[in-house]
Amino acid sequence: MMKLDTGHANLKEDIFSYQEKVSELHQAIINQTGAGNDFMGWVHWAKNYDQEELSRIKEVATKVKDKAEVLVVCGIGGSYLGARAAIEMIQGLYSDNKTELIFIGNTFSSTYISQVMKYIENKSVVLNVISKSGTTTETALSFRLLKEFMEKKYGKEECKTRIIATTDKVRGTLKALSHQEGYETFVIPDDIGGRFSVITPVGLVPMAIMGIDIDEVYAGLMKAYEELNTADLHQNPAYQYAICRRILQNQGYNVELFVAYEPQLAMLAEWWKQLLGESEGKNGLGILPDSANFSTDLHSLGQFIQEGKKILFETILHVNQPQEEVFIPNDAQNLDGMNYLSGKGVDWVNKMAEQGTLEAHTEVGAVPNLVISMEDMSAYSFGYLCYFFFLATAMTCYMMDINPFNQPGVEVYKANMFRLLGKPVK
Ligand code: PA5
Repeated sequence: MMKLDTGHANLKEDIFSYQEKVSELHQAIINQTGAGNDFMGWVHWAKNYDQEELSRIKEVATKVKDKAEVLVVCGIGGSYLGARAAIEMIQGLYSDNKTELIFIGNTFSSTYISQVMKYIENKSVVLNVISKSGTTTETALSFRLLKEFMEKKYGKEECKTRIIATTDKVRGTLKALSHQEGYETFVIPDDIGGRFSVITPVGLVPMAIMGIDIDEVYAGLMKAYEELNTADLHQNPAYQYAICRRILQNQGYNVELFVAYEPQLAMLAEWWKQLLGESEGKNGLGILPDSANFSTDLHSLGQFIQEGKKILFETILHVNQPQEEVFIPNDAQNLDGMNYLSGKGVDWVNKMAEQGTLEAHTEVGAVPNLVISMEDMSAYSFGYLCYFFFLATAMTCYMMDINPFNQPGVEVYKANMFRLLGKPVK
């Protein structure tokens, strides 16, 4: 399903010389015995996922979909990026979906929050608040405002059918509040951290309400679980990718630029940044994950990549099939000189731009490029891709003896902010 091409990466080490280490670490992953193993529920999630819950998500989505002129999803980080990445990838940026999707709870910007509240004032709203801890300040603050807004607009009783909470099984204020208010709730498993949670109700509930076939997401995940559950590096492109990252960092590259040629993959890149950055950026180690959308950013970042300081390598996510194709018309006058492209598909032009850029960056610019290919931007491919990058993340971190599943550094800004806000100390 997904393939890795290392032919343009200029690797100075043989990937397969890492086989022994990979075999050892694979055991730590599949047996869930590695560092951070209390957050490895994602490893066998495809096999273990409660099918009744999957059905309940679909039922709830069917019930609320018709009244959701706007679906507002309130969450941040792992409780935000995955759903957005999935929905944009699968449906595109201007789909004919009748339900509009708005994200909130991911910022303290008063302008943004106020504009969203005004925008949804006269629309029919369904709200999905997502927070494992239930105490994340950005999310809790927006939810307080939205809860008041929804209660004024619909009354408490109607809110029971319009507010869905995705949160911890027992702990946390959001759980207690949802119970008291009678909201429909879905559980974020204890053993799956935020950036691995898109395959749980965290991602699946918003996807289902937006009309995505979550059985397909699940089927793709299952396929990856079956195909990639091997320590054999020849058979496992996710592990190959993990090793390539380490080899390239050994060669001095400390920045990885995730490149896609489809604007609807921009949020996938944001999700990938969190996955790699939060998992690996610890103990003074890690590769800085950055991203670009080409060919758009070739007209901005392109200069630096081509001729700037050699600090980065690129990882291209190549998509074989576009969701839609557009053909270039002939023009009798040809004043724009574009007739040489008459009859060609725009996707073919995109692919030629990709090929030409690959040559320019690698052969002239000496920037190593890894190319990960996937077939299309379907729900199935999204499910597959999740497991691919989860496995790669676990392996690439374990290669450096890093626990991929915690994020202690994130607390530092919060502590300072709470002090400045005068939050009572418990
Ligand atoms: O990866 C993480 O753990 C974070 O990005 C969290 O998902 C984010 O901080 C939101 O946390 P919560 O779901 O508890 O509100």
